[in-house]
Amino acid sequence: MAVLDVVLYPDAPLRDVATPYTKMGAELSQLTQDMIETMHAHDGVGLAGPQIGVAKRIFVLQEPDKEPMCFINPEILESEGEVFAEEGCLSMPRVYGQVPRATRVRVKALDASGTPFEVDALDFFARIIQHENDHLDGIMFPERMDILSREDIYRQWDDMRESILSHREL
Ligand code: NI
Repeated sequence: MAVLDVVLYPDAPLRDVATPYTKMGAELSQLTQDMIETMHAHDGVGLAGPQIGVAKRIFVLQEPDKEPMCFINPEILESEGEVFAEEGCLSMPRVYGQVPRATRVRVKALDASGTPFEVDALDFFARIIQHENDHLDGIMFPERMDILSREDIYRQWDDMRESILSHREL
């Protein structure tokens, strides 16, 4: 297992549309384990392929006090309701904003062994799924906000990114 480097916005491939994941078996199992370990190392609740430089349709997530889950080639089948809550992103660390999301989504995907499943997700669980699924379409959370809030978040992130990168170089 390995903790992978997390790509910071706006570096590639964060703004690209990811392609379907096709390599099942041992390679997938290694990738999902590394993604889960990386998510834990950064105290995250979700991590998508593009965030570790893999432009494939795969993400992992973990709700507090639950087991980690893997979603491969996910598809949101239904969504309903809307609620605002705070979100952050491991690709824009230490910047947070209020983001509107559906309160319930129904999703189908493959799990880490390549087996299809469907799940009804509510509230925080549904929010993580929507945030991570957006990464697969090159969408960062500020793009779900109104334009003024979005510009404010990107301004905050510009400063934060500069500060993070300058500390890395020391
Ligand atoms: Ni994110």
